[in-house]
Amino acid sequence: MTATDFPTTAAARSVRTFHPRRGRMTARQTAALERLWPVHGLAVPDVPGTPVDPAHLFPRRAPLVLEIGSGMGDTTAAMAAADPDRDYLAVEVHTPGIANLLDLVERHGLGNVRVARGDALDLVSGLPDASLDAVHVFFPDPWPKSRHHKRRIIQPAHVALLRSRLVAGGTLHCATDWAEYAEAMRETLDADPGLANTHDGFAPRPAHRPVTKFERRALTAGRPIADLIYRRR
Ligand SMILES: C[S@@+](CC[C@H](N)C(=O)[O-])C[C@H]1O[C@@H](n2cnc3c(N)ncnc32)[C@H](O)[C@@H]1O
Repeated sequence: MTATDFPTTAAARSVRTFHPRRGRMTARQTAALERLWPVHGLAVPDVPGTPVDPAHLFPRRAPLVLEIGSGMGDTTAAMAAADPDRDYLAVEVHTPGIANLLDLVERHGLGNVRVARGDALDLVSGLPDASLDAVHVFFPDPWPKSRHHKRRIIQPAHVALLRSRLVAGGTLHCATDWAEYAEAMRETLDADPGLANTHDGFAPRPAHRPVTKFERRALTAGRPIADLIYRRR
Protein backbone atom coordinates (compact mmCIF):
# COMPACT_ATOMS: atom_id res chain seq x y z
CA MET A 1 0.00 0.00 0.00
CA THR A 2 1.19 3.54 -0.63
CA ALA A 3 0.47 6.93 0.85
CA THR A 4 -2.06 7.59 -1.88
CA ASP A 5 -4.15 4.52 -1.06
CA PHE A 6 -6.13 6.30 1.61
CA PRO A 7 -8.61 8.60 -0.07
CA THR A 8 -10.99 8.18 2.85
CA THR A 9 -8.39 9.56 5.20
CA ALA A 10 -7.62 12.49 2.93
CA ALA A 11 -11.33 13.16 2.50
CA ALA A 12 -11.77 13.09 6.26
CA ARG A 13 -9.46 16.08 6.62
CA SER A 14 -12.50 18.30 7.00
CA VAL A 15 -13.46 16.12 9.98
CA ARG A 16 -10.73 16.73 12.50
CA THR A 17 -10.08 14.51 15.49
CA PHE A 18 -9.08 17.40 17.74
CA HIS A 19 -10.72 20.40 19.38
CA PRO A 20 -9.21 23.65 18.15
CA ARG A 21 -8.10 25.25 21.40
CA ARG A 22 -5.97 28.12 22.44
CA GLY A 23 -3.69 27.96 25.34
CA ARG A 24 -1.45 30.34 27.14
CA MET A 25 2.20 29.49 27.19
CA THR A 26 4.44 30.06 30.14
CA ALA A 27 7.57 32.13 29.59
CA ARG A 28 9.58 28.93 29.85
CA GLN A 29 7.50 27.25 27.12
CA THR A 30 7.74 30.28 24.84
CA ALA A 31 11.50 30.30 25.21
CA ALA A 32 11.72 26.54 24.68
CA LEU A 33 9.65 26.77 21.50
CA GLU A 34 11.78 29.54 20.04
CA ARG A 35 15.06 27.90 20.89
CA LEU A 36 14.33 24.20 20.37
CA TRP A 37 11.78 24.06 17.55
CA PRO A 38 14.47 24.55 14.88
CA VAL A 39 16.45 21.66 16.39
CA HIS A 40 13.80 19.08 17.31
CA GLY A 41 10.66 20.26 15.49
CA LEU A 42 8.98 19.04 12.34
CA ALA A 43 6.11 20.88 10.67
CA VAL A 44 3.57 18.42 9.30
CA PRO A 45 3.30 19.21 5.57
CA ASP A 46 0.15 21.16 4.64
CA VAL A 47 -0.65 18.78 1.82
CA PRO A 48 -1.72 15.41 3.24
CA GLY A 49 0.34 12.54 1.92
CA THR A 50 3.45 14.67 1.25
CA PRO A 51 6.24 12.15 1.82
CA VAL A 52 8.03 12.40 5.17
CA ASP A 53 11.24 10.40 5.33
CA PRO A 54 11.88 9.26 8.92
CA ALA A 55 15.51 8.61 7.98
CA HIS A 56 16.00 12.39 7.90
CA LEU A 57 14.67 12.95 11.40
CA PHE A 58 17.41 11.36 13.47
CA PRO A 59 21.14 10.97 12.94
CA ARG A 60 20.89 7.20 13.42
CA ARG A 61 18.62 4.40 12.21
CA ALA A 62 16.66 2.98 15.14
CA PRO A 63 13.15 1.60 15.55
CA LEU A 64 10.71 4.50 15.55
CA VAL A 65 7.76 5.00 17.92
CA LEU A 66 5.00 7.44 16.96
CA GLU A 67 3.06 9.05 19.79
CA ILE A 68 -0.19 10.53 18.51
CA GLY A 69 -1.64 13.42 20.51
CA SER A 70 1.23 13.74 22.96
CA GLY A 71 -0.56 16.41 25.01
CA MET A 72 1.90 18.06 27.41
CA GLY A 73 4.52 15.48 26.47
CA ASP A 74 5.14 13.89 29.88
CA THR A 75 4.49 10.37 28.58
CA THR A 76 6.65 10.79 25.49
CA ALA A 77 9.53 12.22 27.51
CA ALA A 78 9.36 9.51 30.19
CA MET A 79 9.04 6.64 27.71
CA ALA A 80 11.82 7.97 25.48
CA ALA A 81 14.12 8.38 28.49
CA ALA A 82 13.46 4.79 29.56
CA ASP A 83 13.88 3.42 26.03
CA PRO A 84 17.06 4.95 24.55
CA ASP A 85 17.43 2.31 21.81
CA ARG A 86 14.29 3.52 20.03
CA ASP A 87 13.48 6.96 18.60
CA TYR A 88 10.24 8.77 19.45
CA LEU A 89 8.26 11.05 17.18
CA ALA A 90 5.46 12.88 19.00
CA VAL A 91 2.75 14.63 17.01
CA GLU A 92 0.43 17.22 18.50
CA VAL A 93 -1.57 20.25 17.39
CA HIS A 94 -1.62 22.07 20.73
CA THR A 95 1.26 24.53 20.78
CA PRO A 96 1.74 24.80 24.58
CA GLY A 97 2.01 21.00 24.73
CA ILE A 98 4.59 20.98 21.95
CA ALA A 99 6.56 23.67 23.74
CA ASN A 100 6.35 21.78 27.02
CA LEU A 101 7.68 18.61 25.41
CA LEU A 102 10.55 20.53 23.81
CA ASP A 103 11.40 21.88 27.25
CA LEU A 104 11.36 18.34 28.70
CA VAL A 105 13.54 17.11 25.84
CA GLU A 106 16.16 19.69 26.69
CA ARG A 107 15.92 19.31 30.44
CA HIS A 108 16.36 15.54 30.23
CA GLY A 109 18.87 15.63 27.38
CA LEU A 110 16.76 13.38 25.15
CA GLY A 111 18.45 12.85 21.81
CA ASN A 112 15.81 10.34 20.69
CA VAL A 113 12.76 12.66 20.53
CA ARG A 114 11.38 14.79 17.70
CA VAL A 115 8.16 16.78 17.91
CA ALA A 116 5.83 17.23 14.95
CA ARG A 117 3.22 19.96 14.84
CA GLY A 118 0.05 19.32 12.91
CA ASP A 119 -2.56 16.67 12.23
CA ALA A 120 -1.24 13.19 12.99
CA LEU A 121 -3.31 11.73 10.16
CA ASP A 122 -1.65 14.04 7.64
CA LEU A 123 1.76 13.08 9.01
CA VAL A 124 1.08 9.35 8.99
CA SER A 125 -0.29 9.41 5.46
CA GLY A 126 3.11 10.77 4.34
CA LEU A 127 5.19 8.17 6.17
CA PRO A 128 6.39 5.10 4.26
CA ASP A 129 4.75 1.75 4.80
CA ALA A 130 6.32 -0.35 7.53
CA SER A 131 8.29 2.58 8.96
CA LEU A 132 7.05 2.47 12.56
CA ASP A 133 7.92 0.05 15.32
CA ALA A 134 5.00 1.21 17.46
CA VAL A 135 2.14 3.67 17.47
CA HIS A 136 0.85 5.03 20.78
CA VAL A 137 -2.59 6.59 21.05
CA PHE A 138 -2.96 7.45 24.71
CA PHE A 139 -6.17 9.06 25.96
CA PRO A 140 -7.39 10.30 22.59
CA ASP A 141 -10.25 12.80 22.72
CA PRO A 142 -13.30 10.57 23.39
CA TRP A 143 -15.85 12.58 21.39
CA PRO A 144 -18.66 11.08 23.50
CA LYS A 145 -21.67 12.36 21.53
CA SER A 146 -22.82 9.97 18.79
CA ARG A 147 -22.83 12.73 16.19
CA HIS A 148 -19.14 13.31 16.94
CA HIS A 149 -18.01 9.67 16.72
CA LYS A 150 -16.81 10.42 13.19
CA ARG A 151 -14.12 12.55 14.82
CA ARG A 152 -12.65 9.68 16.78
CA ILE A 153 -9.12 8.78 15.81
CA ILE A 154 -9.75 5.07 16.37
CA GLN A 155 -12.10 4.22 13.51
CA PRO A 156 -11.64 1.67 10.72
CA ALA A 157 -10.04 3.86 7.99
CA HIS A 158 -7.59 5.49 10.41
CA VAL A 159 -6.69 2.14 11.98
CA ALA A 160 -5.97 0.70 8.51
CA LEU A 161 -3.70 3.68 7.83
CA LEU A 162 -1.84 3.33 11.14
CA ARG A 163 -1.48 -0.43 10.71
CA SER A 164 -0.03 -0.03 7.21
CA ARG A 165 2.79 2.11 8.63
CA LEU A 166 3.74 -0.47 11.26
CA VAL A 167 6.43 -3.04 10.63
CA ALA A 168 5.26 -6.66 10.83
CA GLY A 169 5.10 -7.41 14.54
CA GLY A 170 4.95 -3.69 15.38
CA THR A 171 2.45 -2.62 18.03
CA LEU A 172 -0.53 -0.31 18.13
CA HIS A 173 -1.13 0.60 21.77
CA CYS A 174 -4.24 2.56 22.75
CA ALA A 175 -5.38 3.64 26.19
CA THR A 176 -8.55 5.39 27.25
CA ASP A 177 -10.52 6.23 30.38
CA TRP A 178 -13.79 6.40 28.46
CA ALA A 179 -15.54 3.01 28.85
CA GLU A 180 -17.77 3.25 25.79
CA TYR A 181 -14.86 4.35 23.59
CA ALA A 182 -12.78 1.49 25.00
CA GLU A 183 -15.40 -1.01 23.80
CA ALA A 184 -15.69 0.71 20.42
CA MET A 185 -11.89 0.70 20.07
CA ARG A 186 -11.77 -2.99 20.85
CA GLU A 187 -14.41 -3.79 18.23
CA THR A 188 -12.64 -1.65 15.62
CA LEU A 189 -9.20 -3.10 16.33
CA ASP A 190 -10.53 -6.68 16.43
CA ALA A 191 -12.19 -6.11 13.05
CA ASP A 192 -8.95 -5.05 11.33
CA PRO A 193 -7.71 -8.16 9.52
CA GLY A 194 -4.08 -7.04 9.72
CA LEU A 195 -3.98 -6.73 13.50
CA ALA A 196 -3.87 -9.35 16.25
CA ASN A 197 -4.63 -8.63 19.88
CA THR A 198 -1.65 -9.42 22.13
CA HIS A 199 -4.05 -10.17 25.00
CA ASP A 200 -7.43 -11.71 25.43
CA GLY A 201 -9.38 -8.44 25.25
CA PHE A 202 -8.03 -5.56 27.33
CA ALA A 203 -4.38 -5.65 28.37
CA PRO A 204 -3.24 -5.42 31.97
CA ARG A 205 -1.84 -1.96 32.64
CA PRO A 206 1.68 -2.06 31.19
CA ALA A 207 4.33 -0.75 33.60
CA HIS A 208 6.12 1.02 30.73
CA ARG A 209 3.20 3.45 30.20
CA PRO A 210 3.80 6.23 32.74
CA VAL A 211 0.93 7.44 34.91
CA THR A 212 0.19 11.00 33.86
CA LYS A 213 -1.84 13.72 35.57
CA PHE A 214 -4.51 12.97 33.01
CA GLU A 215 -4.72 9.34 34.12
CA ARG A 216 -4.65 10.23 37.82
CA ARG A 217 -7.57 12.61 37.31
CA ALA A 218 -9.57 9.88 35.55
CA LEU A 219 -8.88 7.40 38.33
CA THR A 220 -9.88 9.95 40.98
CA ALA A 221 -13.13 10.53 39.10
CA GLY A 222 -13.76 6.77 39.15
CA ARG A 223 -13.04 6.10 35.46
CA PRO A 224 -10.88 2.99 35.09
CA ILE A 225 -8.25 2.90 32.35
CA ALA A 226 -8.39 0.42 29.48
CA ASP A 227 -5.26 -0.54 27.52
CA LEU A 228 -5.44 -2.29 24.15
CA ILE A 229 -2.26 -3.60 22.54
CA TYR A 230 -2.33 -5.09 19.04
CA ARG A 231 0.42 -6.37 16.75
CA ARG A 232 0.59 -6.02 13.00
CA ARG A 233 0.38 -9.53 11.52
C1 LIG B 1 -7.08 14.09 25.71
S1 LIG B 1 -5.54 14.60 25.14
C2 LIG B 1 -4.41 13.37 25.75
C3 LIG B 1 -2.99 13.82 25.73
C4 LIG B 1 -1.93 12.80 26.14
N1 LIG B 1 -1.87 11.68 25.22
C5 LIG B 1 -2.11 12.32 27.56
O1 LIG B 1 -2.26 11.12 27.76
O2 LIG B 1 -2.07 13.15 28.48
C6 LIG B 1 -5.63 14.25 23.40
C7 LIG B 1 -4.62 15.03 22.61
O3 LIG B 1 -4.61 14.59 21.27
C8 LIG B 1 -4.40 15.70 20.43
N2 LIG B 1 -4.90 15.33 19.10
C9 LIG B 1 -6.13 14.90 18.77
N3 LIG B 1 -6.22 14.61 17.47
C10 LIG B 1 -4.98 14.86 16.95
C11 LIG B 1 -4.43 14.77 15.65
N4 LIG B 1 -5.18 14.35 14.61
N5 LIG B 1 -3.15 15.12 15.46
C12 LIG B 1 -2.40 15.55 16.50
N6 LIG B 1 -2.86 15.66 17.76
C13 LIG B 1 -4.13 15.32 17.98
C14 LIG B 1 -5.16 16.83 21.10
O4 LIG B 1 -4.68 18.10 20.71
C15 LIG B 1 -4.90 16.53 22.57
O5 LIG B 1 -3.78 17.22 23.05
